[in-house]
Amino acid sequence: MIKYRLIAFLAVLLQLHCPTLGQPYPNYHADFVGIGDHGADLKWWQTAAFYQIYPRSFKDSNGDGVGDLNGIAEQLPYLKELGITATWLSPIFTSPMADFGYDIANFTEIAPIFGTMADFEHLMEVAKKLDIKIILDFVPNHSSDECEWFRRSAARDPEFKDFYVWHPGRMENGNRHPPSNWISVFRGSAWQWHEGRQEFYLHQFVKKQPDLNYRNPKVRETMSNVLRFWLGKGVAGFRIDAVPHVFEIAPDNQNQYRDEPRNDWDNDPEDYGYLQHIYTKDQPETIDLVYSWRAVLDAHQREHGGEDRILMAETYSPIDIVMQYYGNATAEGAQLPFNFLLISELSNSSNAHAYEGTVLKWLQHMPKGRTANWVLGNHDQPRVGSRLGRDRVDMLNMLTATLPGASVTYQGEELGMTNVWISWKDTVDPSACNTNPSIYEQYSRDPERTPFQWTDAQDAGFSNASKTWLPIAVDYKEVNVEQERQKPLSHLNVFKQLWQLRKQSQTLKRGETEVKALSDAVLAVKRYLERDSTYLTLLNIYDGVETINLLQSFPDLPPQLKVVVVTERSQVKVGDLVNSTSLQLQPKDSLVLQTTSSYYSYATNGETRFLPVLGVYLWLAQVGLYLSSR
Ligand code: GLC
Repeated sequence: MIKYRLIAFLAVLLQLHCPTLGQPYPNYHADFVGIGDHGADLKWWQTAAFYQIYPRSFKDSNGDGVGDLNGIAEQLPYLKELGITATWLSPIFTSPMADFGYDIANFTEIAPIFGTMADFEHLMEVAKKLDIKIILDFVPNHSSDECEWFRRSAARDPEFKDFYVWHPGRMENGNRHPPSNWISVFRGSAWQWHEGRQEFYLHQFVKKQPDLNYRNPKVRETMSNVLRFWLGKGVAGFRIDAVPHVFEIAPDNQNQYRDEPRNDWDNDPEDYGYLQHIYTKDQPETIDLVYSWRAVLDAHQREHGGEDRILMAETYSPIDIVMQYYGNATAEGAQLPFNFLLISELSNSSNAHAYEGTVLKWLQHMPKGRTANWVLGNHDQPRVGSRLGRDRVDMLNMLTATLPGASVTYQGEELGMTNVWISWKDTVDPSACNTNPSIYEQYSRDPERTPFQWTDAQDAGFSNASKTWLPIAVDYKEVNVEQERQKPLSHLNVFKQLWQLRKQSQTLKRGETEVKALSDAVLAVKRYLERDSTYLTLLNIYDGVETINLLQSFPDLPPQLKVVVVTERSQVKVGDLVNSTSLQLQPKDSLVLQTTSSYYSYATNGETRFLPVLGVYLWLAQVGLYLSSR
């Protein structure tokens, strides 16, 4: 009798706790995208909030008008307050600053303007205490022309002779011309004549940034050693700069470089867009090179233990190429090739269908088992508020915090900092200075690089210098950390709430994803996880009031949902219950909603079909009880 009772009890228990044993989990939406095995442990970077610090503009501790390492260390608790996991720092190495640190003269030395190696080590200690990981910028494509390697290469020192891409040029009618028609990203010929060596050298960026020659194994080894050096200092990984440019085609058997074909849409022969960069970008060798850097990181980890060291790759390339950087069946690549689609595919006038297409483009191209990431901005791109709308800052932060995978925030985007207009006279970015006063604004990256806005005091609390390296934004009295801390629904506080929620929620970390435009105006992102809450992020991209029936698009949602994050545009409050059949969104409003009980999370997880099965089990249990009591 006891035996029957036990069987009956176990049958009920089994079904209650393992509903999927009764029926396989039905993933019946073609557009659902999973982020991997539900049970598996997630690595720190897979759900991380990354934050990019542009050191020149973050915090100036010594009053010279330029940010520095001690400034970063001092303000690191602010990143903790935001909920940041790791920060990547734009270059902090010795540099003549022709491209503000992206022209490195010594790859293993700290630039005096940023501090000393002791300051860097101090920063690492502070970061460790706060449990914030430090990622450095690795700039492999080029060095500065003031780098020792370049000097020795120019002097034909046998050890460095082929460290850079040199060529005597083309002789035509007794006149010497550059070896090919290649154009620099920052305008004009990509070849510069060197008087000392009597040859041209290649520079895909400014002429003070000669390209390293990756066809030389010694260059590859030297750069791997740069990685090893900083790994030894305890960094958690690297953001790799300008990856698609690292290799260019090899010269042909007559030692000539081929010309690149023209683009019809560009009539300015000095402009980078004038040519199709089929020989200087996205060469297949580059992918393997990134894999070899990953191998350096993995070897370090095997030897020294600890958590994953990671690579984030800057690749503005066609999506099929970007995806190859993740790795393949036999080799691992960058854990996070940057997803720039939110930058390159969306504009101020994009509708919800465009947003849906952009998000799905990444998710659907991503190889199985890899981790997504979402980049809203960086030091090379107009600020997100200026690009997609000041009044869309919160909704975009909401989107990236509730999509699967990692997100990358550029400093100041959490405050809603926008582009600052910089006069031609104050312009310092080489990309703009290489143009002229009538077109420079199209090329300048200074507007997104202005000093961070901490307070409403002098220099926005960034510095106490009489002049900062770039002017301070005029809106700093309203848009700053101190002010925004006080307003419950400031951009800053919405950002913080989002990342708090993200940290607590298993669904947001590892749940499945469905992205849908509900109309031209409204985008919805549904995240769900078996036996956990379902979340719904809603963005009203347009200026009208929108009333939506969520059940039309998500029939398995419960009749009511709880509001968990709002913005200052919302009319509902956190904790309110809203009706799924008639939900109102204010102009440019955005909300995060959550299912209210575990029953509903069962139902919304596609488990409704399990309920009749449960009935059968209960009936069997009763039969068992009856038999046992006879
Ligand atoms: C990358 C950097 C950019 C720099 C360029 C050359 O694109 O993000 O700021 O100018 O590489 O190093």
